[in-house]
Amino acid sequence: MGYRGRIIKLKRVQDIPDKELIPWGKRLVLGIPIIDSQHKELVVLANELNYKCLRHNKDTVKEGFVCAVRGSINYVKVHFSTEEKIMERVGFPGLEQHKLQHQGFIAKILEEIEGLESGHALAPNRFVIFLKDWVLSHIAISDKEMVDYVLAEAAKRNFVAETEQAAKAS
Ligand SMILES: [Fe+2]
Repeated sequence: MGYRGRIIKLKRVQDIPDKELIPWGKRLVLGIPIIDSQHKELVVLANELNYKCLRHNKDTVKEGFVCAVRGSINYVKVHFSTEEKIMERVGFPGLEQHKLQHQGFIAKILEEIEGLESGHALAPNRFVIFLKDWVLSHIAISDKEMVDYVLAEAAKRNFVAETEQAAKAS
């Protein structure tokens, strides 16, 4: 069963039993240190966002939410850029499709912010569930596929140091 199946049963954000929307764990560690540490940071940002929603005050939640999401976008872009540079470096065959997933995610986040800023009501529950669903499935499926390919190529070509350098250049 995919992550969606497990998440969809949650009706309200208050039903999420743990303050941590996405507990960090071994299952999220893929094996390339720069990617793993950025994923960990993204999980922290998602958890902080969720915590803000759980602790919301009706009058300030929307403003705080928009501010937190905006503040996270740059980091998300840096992370996507790191992954894309590594994929380019190794000639990962799924690069274009993976890039489309990244672009779709950024577009969805920007759409959410624009909607809120133009007067839409905040639906934090829907958003954090989307976030959890996307992050978990993206890491577990798409990023894992990419990392497995990179590690296999690295073993062949011995360019682990180069992937780290490509990441630093991002
Ligand atoms: Fe990715």
